[in-house]
Amino acid sequence: MENSRRSFIKKVTVAGIGTAGIALNSTLSASEDTKTSEPQTKKPAGKDDGKLRFGFIGTGSRCREHINNVIAIPGNKIVAICDIKQSALDNTLKHIARFNVAAPKTYTGSERAFEQMLNNEDFDCVIIASPWEWHVPMSVAAMKAGVPYVGVEVSAANTVEECWDLVNVSEATGNQLNIMENVCYRRDCMAALTMVRQGLFGELLHGGCGYQHDLRDVKFNDGVNYNYKKGGELRMGPTAFSEAQWRTQHSVTRNGDIYPTHGIGPVANCMDINHGNRFLSLSAMATQSRGLHKFIVDNGGERHPLAKLRFNLGDIVTSMIKCANGQTIIVTHDTNSPRPYSLGFRIQGTEGLWMNDGEHVYVQEQSNPHRWDSSEEWFKKYDHKLWSTLDAAAREAGHGGMDYIMMYDFIDAIRNKKRAPMDCYDAAAWSAISGLSEMSIARGGAVVDFPDFTRGQWINRQPTFAL
Ligand SMILES: NC(=O)c1ccc[n+]([C@@H]2O[C@H](COP(=O)([O-])OP(=O)(O)OC[C@H]3O[C@@H](n4cnc5c(N)ncnc54)[C@H](O)[C@@H]3O)[C@@H](O)[C@H]2O)c1
Repeated sequence: MENSRRSFIKKVTVAGIGTAGIALNSTLSASEDTKTSEPQTKKPAGKDDGKLRFGFIGTGSRCREHINNVIAIPGNKIVAICDIKQSALDNTLKHIARFNVAAPKTYTGSERAFEQMLNNEDFDCVIIASPWEWHVPMSVAAMKAGVPYVGVEVSAANTVEECWDLVNVSEATGNQLNIMENVCYRRDCMAALTMVRQGLFGELLHGGCGYQHDLRDVKFNDGVNYNYKKGGELRMGPTAFSEAQWRTQHSVTRNGDIYPTHGIGPVANCMDINHGNRFLSLSAMATQSRGLHKFIVDNGGERHPLAKLRFNLGDIVTSMIKCANGQTIIVTHDTNSPRPYSLGFRIQGTEGLWMNDGEHVYVQEQSNPHRWDSSEEWFKKYDHKLWSTLDAAAREAGHGGMDYIMMYDFIDAIRNKKRAPMDCYDAAAWSAISGLSEMSIARGGAVVDFPDFTRGQWINRQPTFAL
């Protein structure tokens, strides 16, 4: 099975022609390199009953949110799911049963059971919602196994090398990688993007964004509940629950912006990154690390075993990026301190700006001089068409509707064999902030060069996101 599949993919890759999925896509720009051309499918999308065949790897809480939307959007079915934990599979099967659809096959038993699933099943799309350290091995395996569309949760990759792996394998196989960056579909972000595209803010100068989310009660819990409850047991690692099992360890071993894409994705779309613009260089600095240790001591006392642990992650990490077209962007990572949630967006140009904190918009000649307008009225006027069309259905879905809109757009690409809305180059450029900020911090804030993951294509690539 393994060999015949590999040789099939090799043949298709070398020939570059052959299956129904390879017809040229009219939505791709003629100037684009063939490396970003049509995905090479093993079988046409949804061949037997016309339904798109989905698989999921990592069936925790995020996976179940994706499942809601895959089932809510007509024309899809879930063929197989994989997790190392039987309990996660059981919960997900129960979750799926509520929709009165056929139960998928399950794969488990080892850390590499996903390879067996990829070899045994035919998919139109596999979605990966596993711990960060598994994103790239799983994405690479799925693309190499001939899955034409692979959706990977955020961040897509942890190191610059992993970013290259995503690009190289997507290019070599012709299979599409989509980073599932739902914040790009947030209603205010899409309205701001519409305003940018219609020139309301003039030529863009500067962006601000960040993941500013007090995660202390997610990084530790009692092994049963998702959030830590005061007075409860304080755990991280294998005996904890959900993200506290794996996410917290990244704060022990790493010091950089380890979760950059919720912030940078929408800003990159506004600034046409990889489509006429690109990130050139980055410099990052981190504060001292205090919040997680303090949380342990405040809740578990000085003698708690975890109080001995040294955390490497600075509580607030600030990265500054320079773009080829002149803009600067400040990206913040701030997850260990008490604070209300904010992604802190700022999109500023020669004619005005949007600032998400305070819900402010200012447009020269239209706003009262030196006074903020509320963004609400502006965003009603410039509501993106995906939102105005899908509003009712999206409202019922999670995360304020952006997850539904994202899945709708991704499924539209799969069904119509279009390029992934947020492709391997976006996944790589946005996620590379992690590895580059770690390098820069380790060198006292030194400026590090951003790789050009498009290998020069950025100059001629046309924007395709949410046109
Ligand atoms: N975009 C968003 O808004 C958003 C929200 C939450 C989580 N996420 C992302 O989604 C991903 C999953 O997060 P989560 O909250 O569901 O975490 P989780 O810990 O609840 O789920 C992860 C699942 O992966 C399984 N797993 C681990 N190693 C595996 C392996 N080798 N093979 C198969 N399964 C394996 C675990 O058993 C677990 O069931 C993360 O990357 C996270 O950053 C994104």
